[in-house]
Amino acid sequence: MSPILNCIKNNKTTNKPIWLMRQAGRYLPEFRKIREKNTNFINLCLNKILSSEITLQPLKRFKLDAAIIFSDILMLPYALNQKVEFIKNIGPKLGKIDLENINQIKEIDFVEKLKPIYESLKITSENKLISNKDLIGFVGAPWTLLVYMINQKSPKNKLSINKFNNNFLSKDLLLIIEKFLKIHIKKQIEAGATIIQIFDSWAGLLEDHESFKPKDLYNYVYEPTERLVNFVKDLNVPVICFPRGIKNYKKFCDFVKPDVINIDYNVNPRDIKDKINITIQGGLDPKILLTDKNKLKKEALFYLDTFKDHPYIFNLGHGVLPETKPEMVQELVNIVKNYS
Ligand code: CP3
Repeated sequence: MSPILNCIKNNKTTNKPIWLMRQAGRYLPEFRKIREKNTNFINLCLNKILSSEITLQPLKRFKLDAAIIFSDILMLPYALNQKVEFIKNIGPKLGKIDLENINQIKEIDFVEKLKPIYESLKITSENKLISNKDLIGFVGAPWTLLVYMINQKSPKNKLSINKFNNNFLSKDLLLIIEKFLKIHIKKQIEAGATIIQIFDSWAGLLEDHESFKPKDLYNYVYEPTERLVNFVKDLNVPVICFPRGIKNYKKFCDFVKPDVINIDYNVNPRDIKDKINITIQGGLDPKILLTDKNKLKKEALFYLDTFKDHPYIFNLGHGVLPETKPEMVQELVNIVKNYS
């Protein structure tokens, strides 16, 4: 059994496995080289040969225990015929939703548009670099996708709150997203994904924004995520949830019951360890990788020591930052692998 599955299924606590969110990306010169020649990001995700190569790039350099398929959570709105572009130094920009069209999209057409992703998973899963390791498939959580699809860009600076008062957009669209997420998850598993991670990058926004009410957290985050988690569990594949920024991870776990919970860097690891008995993943602030090796060692050891007797998968509290030096990732992997 792979080290990560052994941790999740058998609660193994020795030899902590490690992988990193955004481990394939702009901090790697070999990724930037491919990216420079492929200016359209969506097309790059849909190039099965290159996307498989990018997925495996970090495994060629570092002793990581998993690869995460090179794709994006916004491939779902793309496959639902919403225009998705990635603007340099700004981020994603989405077109308007065509309400009539989106109601009529057929599963077969949706799957056809994302077929290269499934083919990339298949090719990657057959590569010897991945043997006895996991290949992680992923989706955005319904809420985070709803936010991008309605807001048409990152809500970092501004969320167009009025649009969430529209019943169609906030209720019907959420169900359409959920339906297609299930299809996308199933296809990834059939193609070779051995774990699914659900990224809810904007879960915290619901609690922070004064226009939302407490029950909205249930309607938009807890309940739709719980249904997705049960769907993945029924396919016999472990599911990792990352509800970034939510205030109460324990409450989330009690309700949603994922196999693994990824914590963000604002969570106190000591505190969470006593409250949650499922496998915990992540936590380390990715900015620590921008400091120096001494500081990195001190911070990484804090997580390793805290979770010494708890099933724990080493990861970060958010993705690897583009400014990160690959040698710092190397150092981190060494620290985790030499820890006993
Ligand atoms: O290595 C990996 O983790 C696998 C690939 C992966 C990407 N995006 C590739 C990517 C994964 C797992 C994602 C998830 C994703 N995408 C999330 C959830 C995690 C998170 O960061 O909160 C979100 C919110 C997105 C949406 C998205 N995609 C944004 C906001 C951006 C632009 C800003 C940024 O972080 O780069 C992207 C683009 C994107 N997705 C890039 C990569 C490698 C950069 C593209 C480029 O080279 O310009």
